Amino acid sequence: MSVHTSRPHDSGTLHVTGAARYTDDILTPANTLHLAFGLSAIAKGRIDKIDLGAVEGAEGVAAVLTARDLPFENDVSPSIHDEPLLSTGAIHYLGQPIFIVVATSHLAARKAARLGEITYKEETPILTIDEAMAADSRFEDGPRIYAKGDIEAALNDAPHRLSGSMEIGGQEHFYLEGHAALALPQDGGEMVVHASTQHPTEIQHKVADALGTPMNAVRVEVRRMGGGFGGKESQGNALCVACAVAAKLTGWPCKMRYDRDDDMIITGKRHDFRIDYDVGFDETGKLVGVDFIQYAKCGWAQDLSLPVADRAMLHSDNAYLLDHARITSHRLKTNTQSNTAFRGFGGPQGVLGIERVMDHVAHHLGLDPLKVRRVNFYPSAARISGNTKPTTPYGMEVTDSILTEMADALETSSDYHARRAAVTEWNAQNPILKKGIALTPVKFGISFTLTHLNQAGALVHVYQDGSIHLNHGGTEMGQGLFTKVAQVAASVFGVSPDTVQITATDTGKVPNTSATAASSGTDLNGMAVKAACETICDRIAAHLGGEVTFANGKVITPTRELTFVEAVKDAYENRISLSATGFYATPDVAWDRIKGQGRPFFYFAYGMAVTEVVIDTLTGENRILRADILHDCGASLNPDLDIGQIEGGYVQGAGWLTTEELVWDSKGALKTHAPATYKIPCASDRPDIFNVSLWDGENPAQTIYRSKAVGEPPLMLGISALMALSDAIASCGYTYPALDAPATAERVLAAVTKIKT
Ligand code: MTE
Ligand code: MOS
Repeated sequence: MSVHTSRPHDSGTLHVTGAARYTDDILTPANTLHLAFGLSAIAKGRIDKIDLGAVEGAEGVAAVLTARDLPFENDVSPSIHDEPLLSTGAIHYLGQPIFIVVATSHLAARKAARLGEITYKEETPILTIDEAMAADSRFEDGPRIYAKGDIEAALNDAPHRLSGSMEIGGQEHFYLEGHAALALPQDGGEMVVHASTQHPTEIQHKVADALGTPMNAVRVEVRRMGGGFGGKESQGNALCVACAVAAKLTGWPCKMRYDRDDDMIITGKRHDFRIDYDVGFDETGKLVGVDFIQYAKCGWAQDLSLPVADRAMLHSDNAYLLDHARITSHRLKTNTQSNTAFRGFGGPQGVLGIERVMDHVAHHLGLDPLKVRRVNFYPSAARISGNTKPTTPYGMEVTDSILTEMADALETSSDYHARRAAVTEWNAQNPILKKGIALTPVKFGISFTLTHLNQAGALVHVYQDGSIHLNHGGTEMGQGLFTKVAQVAASVFGVSPDTVQITATDTGKVPNTSATAASSGTDLNGMAVKAACETICDRIAAHLGGEVTFANGKVITPTRELTFVEAVKDAYENRISLSATGFYATPDVAWDRIKGQGRPFFYFAYGMAVTEVVIDTLTGENRILRADILHDCGASLNPDLDIGQIEGGYVQGAGWLTTEELVWDSKGALKTHAPATYKIPCASDRPDIFNVSLWDGENPAQTIYRSKAVGEPPLMLGISALMALSDAIASCGYTYPALDAPATAERVLAAVTKIKT
């Protein structure tokens, strides 16, 4: 079978040779016009006067559009219609689009966009979590609270008690390909849109609303993205709607791509959080109760902030069984970019909260943090006895834990105990360079928490020469979805994946798709593709008669053996349909987000990482020396691609928590809007020693060939880097470092200085 074997990414060669075509590389028709947004220069207030004379008169400008020129809906929100494409007078953040320039070239449009003369009635912006709390500026009426057990009693009776608070910075997606869109007007008002988006159906929907047409008049196509990471779930709506409206009004094809600075200034990022905690525990470090208060900085519009904040709450237990827990979540509205999905979708912030608690408890008790984590792990399936199953704070049973077994294996393979002893020894000998080591786990819930999104469709054609044309609702952003799904199709037909032609995602082929998100791309689309392929196999089998198997390029019946190509030709000549759709809906999920009760996830994915770091206590500079990862992909569909996701996720997570720092000034201007000031990890920041292994086991849940989703969970393995830094800093003094994120060199130095004095 083609699944469970490594194959390179279908576009791997194209990626590394520069031949892969992204939206900006699509050959454009003659007379294509180019768009740029004119942006607000203040964070909060109203437009007083607006003079666009100089913009209109600038070289190459064909049209200038403001909110008044929009023929229908002026809204690009994915949720509650609170996100005008162009300001109607109110300004909500610095960088908000106010007008659109349509010009003969990309450069002409960008130059002209700077010439708008706008005066404002300025108001004091709400920029921080504290300011939003003070002003009670929030989405939803009040905080959302999920709880289990009796938290007050548990904390009061606990043998030990600690409290603390942690600041967690946001994160810029920094997809290598920025946002881009191309709208091509068709006959009779129809529109074709090419976009760099994780959510073609949403683009179709928003473009149709903006053009005043039904969805059937809009077709959206996306072959690939140069990274999305959640940043292209909703934030591409603005470019696509702008291009479609401009194309309708001018009659010409319209294209837009954000320059990197504009991309960073306009679009939302990972939510910054603060998490306060109050925890009770015994002398072994076993938690008896924990009370979390999560503050999420959502930005100016709701976007996906409610489900992001929900997922942070749903991951506040991470790998640990809590008998008494309460999680309070504040979703705060601020005059900053509208924060959005980012790999983990709030989960990483929730996980970080309890990992900090584990670290703090261990420091307080003078125990190895791994010991404290272990006594709190969800018990493994084999150790659950009787009828009462361990449950999460939201009432979902956890019956698939492999945490203890994984910790046993990783402890050995990473030589954890000997290396911890060596780190202690090193720190006793070296006054300047200090080392630290940490093991952190992840348990990540797989499924969209909005239950109805857990569905997918596929369309498969087999041509008369035996070649296969594959289409499904998922999008390719580098994660390898298309390769895995082609392996699924090849496995069902019993042919080589080379005979499967992967095609662009297209709303005209598979309708009503969900965003490729929540790590569910392969789980959902793989199943839908399998169903479509099986329908075709069943038709061929019914025609041939008897027990029929499809394997090794052959179709075998009790009486005959044909090649796949012969069987297909025979079916065609006998007028059997060789085209089918497939559909899948995840079973067994049901969730009440208001009550905070139910089974939001089909299953959990698990992983663990050990990271060792060194810090320079004179400068705060630091480096990851070694990382060892054991991650659970169930029965992996493609081990090499999964390892790639794990390596990339870890490095992206470590980047979030170390060097990637977003800074806004007191006026609300994002100061870190280019790679010169915003430091993502580069290839040389990959740990020198980087050992990644896959856990050997099947998914107990009935997923596609018993594999597990892998896209987001490994990002949280990067938390071990932050905890290792905390461990290194702790060796410089006696008090707990309480290290915030990102732990930049400045912050590490400040923490070292603080605990030394
Ligand atoms: N890997 C690459 N190379 N590029 C990406 O943009 N996005 C991540 C993850 N891995 C991403 C990636 C995110 S946020 C998600 S939700 C999943 O891939 C989406 O794809 P999947 O559901 O097919 O795993
Ligand atoms: Mo991923 S944050 O669910 O796009």
